Formats: sequence, structure tokens, C-alpha cells
Amino acid sequence: MELQVEQLCKSYRKKEALRKVSFTLRKGTYGLLGENGAGKSTLMRLMATVDFPTGGSIRCDGKDIFQMDEEYRSFIGYMPQNYNVYPGFTAKDFLEYMGVLKGIPRDRLKSRIDEVLEFVNLSDVAGKKVKTFSGGMKRRIGIAQAVINDPRILILDEPTAGLDPRERIRFSNIISDMGKDKIVLLSTHIVSDIEAIAGDLVVIKKGEILETGTVDALVRKVKGQVWEAVVSQEVYQRLRKERSVIHLKQMGEEVQVRFVGEKYIDAACPGTEISPVEPTLEDYYIFAGGREETESGE
Ligand SMILES: Nc1ncnc2c1ncn2[C@@H]1O[C@H](COP(=O)(O)OP(=O)(O)O)[C@@H](O)[C@H]1O
Ligand SMILES: [Mg+2]
Repeated sequence: MELQVEQLCKSYRKKEALRKVSFTLRKGTYGLLGENGAGKSTLMRLMATVDFPTGGSIRCDGKDIFQMDEEYRSFIGYMPQNYNVYPGFTAKDFLEYMGVLKGIPRDRLKSRIDEVLEFVNLSDVAGKKVKTFSGGMKRRIGIAQAVINDPRILILDEPTAGLDPRERIRFSNIISDMGKDKIVLLSTHIVSDIEAIAGDLVVIKKGEILETGTVDALVRKVKGQVWEAVVSQEVYQRLRKERSVIHLKQMGEEVQVRFVGEKYIDAACPGTEISPVEPTLEDYYIFAGGREETESGE
């Protein structure tokens, strides 16, 4: 299966949210990375056919997804960024409701609900009201409804938002299993959330594709250009203007920094020890301008 996005445009009255976006997805897990407002949710809504483009096309094995309509919807799963589960629903009620909407035959639905609850590890709270769930549990029920029809294409908008570290690990395990035989696309603005899960990335900035490629290929782009040093506040402030700098930690009067670019800071700080370090995806992302704010931490 192949999903081909070509020259996709989306404008809201005045706002151009997507501009000539093109990329192709095949089997595997992809990360859609971009800061808030980059256009991730807009793109995903189009890919899930819950909204329409103002230009360009999306094709599934050559067929226009907006013309396929029902046929396409029968094999996609979508979790929107913000969705409200009907407050009175229990986990089971909610999945039943979604299953019926997706046209799963009644006689199969019951066992399928048990399967997906098991899959996202919520079997023991099946009869509890979703409104009493933690953020992580709500995400997981969101994933459960997205996979209930065993979709071949799975689109998850910011699925790791609000998860605690343990839930994040559980989530990455769930996702890495699914990427084996599906197209899985998940968005995030947090680099570290995607690094471990997605093999391939689509990097988006201000409605345009900045780059696509494997995590390794993107990281390689900054190999030999990432450094760490301990510098004075003054040098740190200067460095911030000239380089892509990550503030690592305060060390008394000085600051431990990590920066991408040329090694030489300048002659004004002789004696500063600058060590080369292995690049990470975060380094690439900052260097490529994917993220504007370069203070470390979210
Ligand atoms: N329904 C809408 N009407 C007008 N502008 C919108 C609408 N939805 C999104 N936008 C704008 O489009 C841009 C992209 O938004 P969005 O796709 O939500 O980005 P992301 O998901 O990457 O944070 C933003 O500038 C946002 O304000
Ligand atoms: Mg969004």
C-alpha cells in the first residue's frame, strides 16, 4: 500500500496552513514532526478525509482518497488531537459506538472490543467511565478506537501528549508492533518522543515540508558539527546569537552548552574546552530550524 500526498494545499480564510506539501508513505512508522502551528493537525485531518484540501491531492494506491470515500474510511484509523469522548460513556460503550460507526458487524464487535482493550491494556477498566480516566488512559482509549477496524493506515495526532514516562514506554511498544504491517503516521512537536518510535520522519515547518528521511539520515547531516562546552554567561549569550545552542545546565557562574555548527566560538574565550559529541535528532532539528526556541526542556 502506498499513500501519496502531492502538492497539497490548505487555506483557511486568510491563513495558508499547508503549502504544496508532497511526500509518499509506505508500510512503516512515520513521525510527523513540527512545532505548534506548523500544520500537522491540518495535514492529518486531510489525510483522514475529515476536511478537504484547497489544492493538490492525496492518493491511495493511485486512487484519490476523497473519491474513494467510504472505501478509504473502512481501512483508516484516526485519532484527532483533541477529541471528547461522550462524557457518560464507559470504555466499552465508547468502543461499541465507534465500532458501529465504522461498520463493524455486531457479531464480531464484541470480541474485537475485548481484543483492543487488551491491546491498550485497559481491560480491567472496561466498565469505567472514560471521564474518570487519566490523560494517558484517555490517549490509550483513543488509540483503541483508532485501531478497532484493524486499519491499514493509522493516523495519530499527538498521541504522546500528556503521557507520563511509563505511559510513553508502553505507548512506543504498542506503536512499534503496529508499524510492521501498516502505514502508521504519528505527529508530535517533541523530538524525543519520535526518535525511538519512528524510522522515518516528515519534518514540517510553517506549512511546508522541511525534509523527509530516515532518522539516521537526518542525524547524519549534523555529524561532526555538534559540540559541548562550559562557557561564561557572557559567551553563552553571544553564542546564542551565532549558533543553534541548547542550554544544558547551569554550573555555578557558568553554563554547559551544546551547539551545532562550526567549532570555533572565537578568540575572545581562550582556554574554553570544546568537545565533539555524537549528534542526536534534536541537534538536527534545531540546526534545520525546525524549532525556534532553543532552550532545553519543553
Ligand atoms: N479551522 C481553522 N481556521 C483557521 N485557521 C486554522 C484552523 N485550523 C488551523 N488553523 C491555523 O493553521 C495553522 C496550522 O495549524 P495546525 O494544523 O493545528 O498546526 P499544528 O497541528 O502543527 O499545531 C495554524 O496557524 C492555525 O492557527
Ligand atoms: Mg496539532
